[in-house]
Amino acid sequence: MKGPHIVKGFSKLTRLEKIEWLKVQSGLSEGAMNILNTHLHPDQGLQDIYGDISENTVSNFFLPLGLAPNFLINDDLLTLPMVIEESSVVAAASHAAKFWALRGGFHTEVKNILKVGQVHFTWKGSRDSLEAAFEPLKEGLLASVAHLTGRMQNRGGGIESLEIRETSEHLPHAYQLFVNFRTADAMGANFINSVLEALAPEFKKAMETALPESPVEIIMAILSNFTPQCLVSCHLECHPSDFDQFSREMSGLEFGRKFSRAVDLARHDPYRAVTHNKGILNGIDAVVMATGNDYRAVEACAHAYAATNGSYSSLSSAECTTRRFSLNLEIPLALGTVGGLTSTHPMAATAMEILGKPSSEELMQIVAAAGLASNFSAVRSLITSGIQEGHMKMHLGNILRQLNAVPEEVSLVKEEFSGRPISHAGIENFLQSVRNQSKNS
Ligand code: MEV
Repeated sequence: MKGPHIVKGFSKLTRLEKIEWLKVQSGLSEGAMNILNTHLHPDQGLQDIYGDISENTVSNFFLPLGLAPNFLINDDLLTLPMVIEESSVVAAASHAAKFWALRGGFHTEVKNILKVGQVHFTWKGSRDSLEAAFEPLKEGLLASVAHLTGRMQNRGGGIESLEIRETSEHLPHAYQLFVNFRTADAMGANFINSVLEALAPEFKKAMETALPESPVEIIMAILSNFTPQCLVSCHLECHPSDFDQFSREMSGLEFGRKFSRAVDLARHDPYRAVTHNKGILNGIDAVVMATGNDYRAVEACAHAYAATNGSYSSLSSAECTTRRFSLNLEIPLALGTVGGLTSTHPMAATAMEILGKPSSEELMQIVAAAGLASNFSAVRSLITSGIQEGHMKMHLGNILRQLNAVPEEVSLVKEEFSGRPISHAGIENFLQSVRNQSKNS
């Protein structure tokens, strides 16, 4: 039987050869070829930097870098760089930031900054003897990786603790060396993984010398992206009457109560909680992306944290009494402000500069504020006008571009839809009638 036609040595081809191959393989149109070529950076030095970030690069994929001003975070006024593909997120975050800047702003606090690494192994002896044998070995193990941890220790980081844990009562003989790290201003993934990979064989050797009767089988050594002890909290509060301006139908107090009810729904219903948390992550991811941090790690951890009580729940909580409305977010955020993409990607470095070159703890607080701002705006819309009004207004430009509207048509659409609900179908129909009219006249 003939197997699939597997391409060999693809990574060795030049950029143009890759595109030529693609042209034959998928019948790439001239238009698509042109897009790939026109999206290269004209400065070859910069293009090399972008191209080398990943592999098999044939072009660049642009996303807008937007600015959300007026973020008052612990009395510092900041402008947040945000990179996101969804329209209205930056506008919504900016609106919320402006509203809260006049009401004390975002109060944030880093609770802890521990990161986690694991050496998973199998051990068939008794847990007690394993633990007893491990204790006296700790110092030697730490010394065995001192060549890797020394520089980090000088920056205030390094290994904080290491202990043996049973991985699961459901998985016989599964244990792990559970290691807590501090990584100063680095996200620390490379540091942690290098230390763990060096630690694993040392651990095996030391354990087997101490307990020769039962071998240790190392399964893997890797950081955990679940970092519940790398935690930041963010808090907003005002008098409910501050919301009087939000709705003609509701008093500020009614708004506040409805808001906190809406957040409670997300605390108790996983279907709502996922969407609610997605709204928080809209703001979080946008700043995480702009600063060149790992948004997949942040997302994975946030969702695991949202489920720590056994059922997936809201990351934020709200309370409203007659005198006080408060909205709170607690979220683990493993972020770095040195190393990784933050120093190689020119736009990430620029984003850091826009933020005043924050430490990783400061960035955690900034990112949490972006998340809470997005959450506030989303829930505010949902319990008043609904999400589509603002969204579609922001989306209008995209729709008009998709429908190839010329400037005169853009003006006509804006006039026609001013103060009216916007929908893709409505605009398409309107444009069609405008175009039919001008054809017939
Ligand atoms: C859309 O990107 C985000 C929202 O769905 C969040 C929410 O429902 O809270 C509006």
